[in-house]
Amino acid sequence: MNRRDFIKGTLTLATAAAINPSNLFFVRADAAGNNSWWQKKSVYQVYPKSFMDTNGDGIGDLRGIINKLDYIQSLGVGAIWLTPIYSSPMADNGYDISDYTAINPTFGTMADFEELVAEADKRGMKIVMDLVFNHSSDKHPWFLESKTSRDNPKADWYIWREGINDNPPTNWQSIFGGSAWEWNDDRGQYYLHTFSRYQPDLNWENPEVRRALYDAANFWLDKGVGGFRIDAIVYIKKPEGFTDGATDSEGNCSIHNMTANQPGILDFLQEFKREVFDGHDIFTVAEANAVKPKDLPQWVGDKGVFDMLFEFSHVNVIFPEGEIWHKAADFNLVEFKKALSASQNATRNSWYPIYFENHDRPRSIDIFFPEDADKKLAAKALATILFTLRGTPFIYQGEELGFGNADADGFRNINDYDDISSIGQYELGYHAGLSEEENMKIIRKYSRDNARTPMQWDASKNAGFSVGKPWLPIHKDYKTCNAAEEDLDQESVLIYYRHLSAMRNESEVLINGDYKEYFSDNEEIYVYTRALGDKKIGVAVNFTTHDVKLPFNIFGGCTKINGNYHGEEYFLRPTEAIIYEFNN
Ligand code: NOJ
Ligand code: CA
Repeated sequence: MNRRDFIKGTLTLATAAAINPSNLFFVRADAAGNNSWWQKKSVYQVYPKSFMDTNGDGIGDLRGIINKLDYIQSLGVGAIWLTPIYSSPMADNGYDISDYTAINPTFGTMADFEELVAEADKRGMKIVMDLVFNHSSDKHPWFLESKTSRDNPKADWYIWREGINDNPPTNWQSIFGGSAWEWNDDRGQYYLHTFSRYQPDLNWENPEVRRALYDAANFWLDKGVGGFRIDAIVYIKKPEGFTDGATDSEGNCSIHNMTANQPGILDFLQEFKREVFDGHDIFTVAEANAVKPKDLPQWVGDKGVFDMLFEFSHVNVIFPEGEIWHKAADFNLVEFKKALSASQNATRNSWYPIYFENHDRPRSIDIFFPEDADKKLAAKALATILFTLRGTPFIYQGEELGFGNADADGFRNINDYDDISSIGQYELGYHAGLSEEENMKIIRKYSRDNARTPMQWDASKNAGFSVGKPWLPIHKDYKTCNAAEEDLDQESVLIYYRHLSAMRNESEVLINGDYKEYFSDNEEIYVYTRALGDKKIGVAVNFTTHDVKLPFNIFGGCTKINGNYHGEEYFLRPTEAIIYEFNN
């Protein structure tokens, strides 16, 4: 049977969608029915430390981002999210802030920042800042003061408690491993830290703390930023009483289970919205790993606090027992699709960020596809989904080049890793009895440093990232996988990203169309449609490395408009992704 026969003999679903009333709503539309600017283009996430170094110290900087704005713009981007660039001792690479309104001198100056905002603006892009308000650095002057005594003016700006019989107040484990409580001799008390001990949690119950944080956010609005990504926000409200929680099979009680999304959090968030976001043409995207679909209306959309929310369920299908790396499970496509469909369906009346990568995740092609999958095809297959689900696509630097997990001689043992979480997870593995070899295999696969190796700009020394010694090793494949080479190669992942991003930005149906999944139990392929009025687009992606037949010909009477292979077969080829348009 050839392709033509296949199309002719089959049923189509095109007509059913044409009269679906759910196609008719618009989200955050203005009076003229237009979407907001941040719904019509992608967001590009920059990890400044690893993006582009201009002064040879081996660390990326703001001038490096300015130099690469045309490159970012070429990806159809409306905003650039910068992970933290504030003053910081960098224990957690900037997520430990010691001054909320100063630029880390390693990255540049306030003048550089202002130039970045202006230059991005000229290219139709906004700069989005990362607000880290659950905790500060332990070197922040607020904490330095708070820890001096129990009665200084900032004594109550952090969360201090008495121990119990020489033990921490509760059995909570921090997200990076170890007790969530750290002893302080001066106060003779413990302080709480959801993440590392260098990141003490701020006390949001104190109105002065909240005021200081809102002021900091408003400072950046005055600088002309286009929005905020809001870090770890589900943890800001602590439970009323601090009590021990249930332990897992290894005797641990994650603080996440005890403090995420506590009653009362929405009061803080509503105030945050009123004091900072309201009245500005910006977008907000909250990192919120615990918000259930039923609670979404209070969190996102017209009645919610934020415009979008990063939740983790699709990326965490590999961690069914929580984010403990040595307990990772194999990738399960059915669960992955279930998570994506759940968020697509739960945000029909609001909006959603689509993402597969960020600075906290291993590279996606090494997680979501079998080891023997062609990496380029896999990168393009995920891009196909990234640009065709309903929501704003978030591209993480290097994802558009088809970066895989770090393969570099520089990562030999745990001491070669910079990522604080890798070190915590290594300790968890060690205590769970893993051999050194097993433990390092896990770290190599899941380390956040996989996503933090320097950008590969060209085939020159250090991949064109720096003339100095890069702070993290460069991936071995930089001679072939780099922006300059891919720019010239019509078959590259980069060119595919540019095409798909442009297609999505111009497509009313891809921006606003209703989502519907097919064959949700199928373990090999992901199939869905997007429909708006009489327009309909279908997507099919083969997650295996063998040919797969579509269960029945859902795409009869359709025309292929894009995909990661040339031509068409009547089955999906290994790792093939196709975008179809339904003919009316
Ligand atoms: C989430 C950030 O993305 C991550 O990099 C950081 O370590 C934690 N929050 C703590 O701020
Ligand atoms: Ca530099």
